[in-house]
Amino acid sequence: MRIVLMGPPGAGKGTQAKLMRERTGMAHISTGDLLRKAVSAQTALGLAAKGYMDRGELVPDTLVIGMIDHCLRTDGVAASFMLDGFPRTVTQAEALEDTLKTGQVPLEHVISLAVPREELVRRLSGRRTCRQCGAMFHVAFDPPRQEGICDRCGGALYQREDDREETIRARLDVYDRSTAPLENFYRARGLLREIDGTGSTTDVLDRVLVHLEAGRAA
Ligand code: AP5
Repeated sequence: MRIVLMGPPGAGKGTQAKLMRERTGMAHISTGDLLRKAVSAQTALGLAAKGYMDRGELVPDTLVIGMIDHCLRTDGVAASFMLDGFPRTVTQAEALEDTLKTGQVPLEHVISLAVPREELVRRLSGRRTCRQCGAMFHVAFDPPRQEGICDRCGGALYQREDDREETIRARLDVYDRSTAPLENFYRARGLLREIDGTGSTTDVLDRVLVHLEAGRAA
């Protein structure tokens, strides 16, 4: 299956993609995770992307499209994947369409997770991520057993640079301006389904799975 997960920062794209990967074994491709890896490895891409990410702005299309194109053309990946955080602009969506057309593997579902803005701010300002294994926690909704320590691997938890309140609000504005218009792009292709992203993570997962099992979006 080929799925795009959309939704504003904090809507739960990464959380749902990880749960679905555990259930289905599908590849999870997160542009945010790929870019953060490039930043910490100080590659040319990472050095070019860092400033945009710290300010909560989008990394230029050319950089992100090149990165995803490379990823999708790797053997086997394009046949089945969940894209998390890509595309984020109409230009990126058109580039993705071209890549998938070349491989004759069209997108099947675009899921947009909907969560009220103040809930998004609460989720992001309390998020903590493991430096070692990438596991995610929330100081109030899903706290680790020991403060600052990952339950899974014992790694140190940190707060993402762009999860400070001012930057969170900037990211939400960027989403409304640049990414929300993509909904119309996918609605016109009959692929989009908005799903309520509130409630427990398993409630949300159940809604997503019910939709995927029911087939293509109406
Ligand atoms: P990216 O890493 O993609 O960040 P984002 O889209 O802002 O999304 P988040 O990871 O913040 O949120 P999420 O929806 O995955 O929520 P999560 O599951 O983590 O991008 C970062 C930056 O990289 C961008 O700002 C940009 O600069 C750059 N970038 C990336 N892709 C790009 C692209 N295509 N083009 C250009 N630039 C790009 O959950 C959040 C928190 O909520 C967690 O603590 C979690 O535990 C909690 N939570 C999740 N679900 C629930 C629930 N149901 N109830 C309670 N808490 C919940």
